[in-house]
Formats: sequence, structure tokens, C-alpha cells
Amino acid sequence: MIYSDKVISHFKKPHNQGVLKNASTVGEVGNPSCGDVMKIYLKIENNIIKDVKFETLGCAAAIAVSSVLTDMVKGKSIDDALKITRKQIVDDLGGLPEPKIHCSMLGIEALHEAIKKYEKK
Ligand code: FES
Repeated sequence: MIYSDKVISHFKKPHNQGVLKNASTVGEVGNPSCGDVMKIYLKIENNIIKDVKFETLGCAAAIAVSSVLTDMVKGKSIDDALKITRKQIVDDLGGLPEPKIHCSMLGIEALHEAIKKYEKK
């Protein structure tokens, strides 16, 4: 499997990894095909994502996606965060090998799950 340099650097040094204490909401999703799991924590104030962290038990691609996604959403409004697409993430990473494209869904799904829960409160 050939990963771009950017995927490898995010995998080796993921940004925003860990648990966010006092998170406003947490989203968790699993990928039924591989069993990998991603959790995303958001701290939201006045509709702005002030802080974000993730925990991912998964492949290198899933970790790189989580890292890039958390960088992207930090400081954005909820609405803008919801507009981030899988393609944007994959492009930002300089592409993903075809069998790993599904891994990028995990990040988006966890983000949407967290926001959905927040909005229900
Ligand atoms: Fe499971 Fe990548 S192989 S998320």
C-alpha cells in the first residue's frame, strides 16, 4: 500500500489526538467492514467549534483522516463543519489508495454523529 507523505506524517504525528475533557458532545462510529472505531470530541460555544480531539483505533489512513479533519473543523461554525466532504479530506491528504477510501468516511460520520447529538440537546 502506497501512502502519500502527508498521510504518513499525520499518521506518525497525529494532531489533536486524545480525550477532550468538558467536551460538549462526542460522536462515535465503527466501520463494520474492518472493525475500526473513531471517536470525536467537540467543544462548542456559540455555534463555533472551539476545540476538538479524536481517538481512533484503526488503520494509518483512518488516523491520518482524523488528524486532518480535526485540523479542518477547529474554529469553524457547526454549519461550515458539516459542509466538509470526504473528497476535501482525501484531496488534502494528497490522495488515499483506493481500498482505503472508505476509511475517510469514518471521520465524517463521527463528526456528523457528534453534531447531531449536540443539536438534540
Ligand atoms: Fe478500517 Fe481503514 S481499514 S478504517
